Amino acid sequence: KGNLLLQWQKNQKKKKNKKDTGDVDSGSLVIDAEQTQLLEQASAQAQPFSKHQAMVTPATRSDFGDFQVNAAMGLAQALQLNPRECAQQIMTRLRPKIADVMEEPEIAGPGFVNLRFKTDYLTATVAAMANDASGRLALPAVAQKQKIVVDFSSPNIAKEMHVGHLRSTIIGDTLCRVLEFVGHDVVRLNHVGDWGTQFGMLVEHLRDEFPEALQPSQNPVDLGDLVVLYKAAKKRFDEDDEFKVRAREGVVKLQAGQPEELAAWETLCAASRVEFEKIYRMLNIQGLQERGESFYNPYLKDVVDELKAKGMAVESDGATVIYIDGYTNRDGSPLPMIVQKSDGGFNYATTDLAAIRQRTLLLSDEGGEQADRVLYVTDAGQSQHFEMVFQAAKQAGFAPTHARLEHVPFGLVQGEDGKKFATRSGETVKLKDLLHEAVKRAGHDLRSRNAATANVAYLEQIDRIAHIVGIGAVKYADLSMNRESNYRFSYDRMLSLNGNTAPYMLYSYARICGIVRKGSGQADDAVLEWPSSADIVISHETELELMRNLVRLPDVIAEVERDLYPHKICDYLFETSQKFNQFYEHCSVNQAETPELKASRLTLCVATAGTLRLLLNLLGIEVVERL
Ligand code: ARG
Repeated sequence: KGNLLLQWQKNQKKKKNKKDTGDVDSGSLVIDAEQTQLLEQASAQAQPFSKHQAMVTPATRSDFGDFQVNAAMGLAQALQLNPRECAQQIMTRLRPKIADVMEEPEIAGPGFVNLRFKTDYLTATVAAMANDASGRLALPAVAQKQKIVVDFSSPNIAKEMHVGHLRSTIIGDTLCRVLEFVGHDVVRLNHVGDWGTQFGMLVEHLRDEFPEALQPSQNPVDLGDLVVLYKAAKKRFDEDDEFKVRAREGVVKLQAGQPEELAAWETLCAASRVEFEKIYRMLNIQGLQERGESFYNPYLKDVVDELKAKGMAVESDGATVIYIDGYTNRDGSPLPMIVQKSDGGFNYATTDLAAIRQRTLLLSDEGGEQADRVLYVTDAGQSQHFEMVFQAAKQAGFAPTHARLEHVPFGLVQGEDGKKFATRSGETVKLKDLLHEAVKRAGHDLRSRNAATANVAYLEQIDRIAHIVGIGAVKYADLSMNRESNYRFSYDRMLSLNGNTAPYMLYSYARICGIVRKGSGQADDAVLEWPSSADIVISHETELELMRNLVRLPDVIAEVERDLYPHKICDYLFETSQKFNQFYEHCSVNQAETPELKASRLTLCVATAGTLRLLLNLLGIEVVERL
């Protein structure tokens, strides 16, 4: 879509600048390989579309077709053309490109081009989707594979993993799954906060309370509740001057790699890791590599030296800082980004600069990742940090120009009352408890709904299913919201069978499984075998509607690949299940009028179920055949 429009603009520019004839009316879309590449790059980056681009958008009403181009919206104006004339020219160009897929385009209204899928295209595509036993629904892998680093989850050692880290984990995991499905090479990095001045006080506290933790190569030491430990250390640090001095010396010794301090630090990391792992196991997070802040330690000095050599870093009150164009304090004075503190310590930002260099610029034999794209999934509160770090990195040459650095921000999780998310007594909610509670409630719902069932196989599985539904509900509730907005955490809402929720989607999937089982004469308690796909025969408008929806799958995935908004998947899932319901309301599968119709409708069921399963899996949610 983008290509056509960019080509259009380019032609227009040529016409203006070079005053050549620029034959805009020829409808020529033949462009050379180099141009194609340029256009593809440009269109990949054209987000969001500017108002001067005529966008191909899904039609607002089905009688307008499947897609529309609104020429009047900005393009005609920008080109000083009559909107209808502009629409006419767009149509001339589009026609040869879309002839296999779309009916003859139609001009409507003040400057719309309406586009409608050909029925043959719909039936062939959906049959191919249903026919693909690999689960990919006949979607090809991307032609240009990228290396993409996704920095997500990233909790802090010796601190509680909070609900913000939960969001980062869920959103990050989904983005990785989508990008990997598309065919990219994805590296999942857990940028754990495992370095910094707080480790001085923790190490010294351990020296007094758990001296065995300072013995290198000891067996794991049980430190008890790490949050309690952290609070105790902090209290001593704040109240006891002598302890404070020791803590400061402790950090220096740790950074110098003294064995006792290092052993204490490793003990802390190991204890935290055990806690993080419990959460990751519950959420089924796989392939996440721990690569904490400490990993970048050996690179930090180089980074600051290079910033100095390039004239970007300057001294300010004993610290080393950089200033970035456009960032100011409230009073308008330039906002410094500290890269080295007056005591010689490095900062969060310095580590991120070193990480960018390691992830994008350094060659593999220098220990680098050479990523094309790096995503950072953190709360929106860190937006300015990342903007400044990205800009500094580009300016300092720590990232090649083609590398795309993207912050993927998300909003807050609030309590049901819209206030801070906390327990009744005001304490922060422990993630483990929160996840267990969701599973418990899901199990309760399942048992009460299935109280009368005699299906032994099902009853044996109920704990496993409760886990899928409960964890799925937490994930789906998070992912179905536009990630940039805040959302209220509500067990009741996320576990509801009505609305855009995991239980509803899982139920829709299981229902289709039931329909297929019955329609193809399979036993009620056996594992379902998907019937092979048949030719699709259309008997009712709702079948067409369902297919129009199903063929949009690649667009939805491509959109998430580009813009990184997982709620687009949830919106689409919900629409798909609604289209399916409308179809099923009008078209019986089991009592279809002819065997051909029955086979055709079963094929629609298979394609729909495959779509739901694929997308739920991309959201990190397993499906079950019976709920
Ligand atoms: N540990 C940080 C936090 O808890 C998140 C780290 C995000 N990643 C990064 N490269 N800065 O807020």
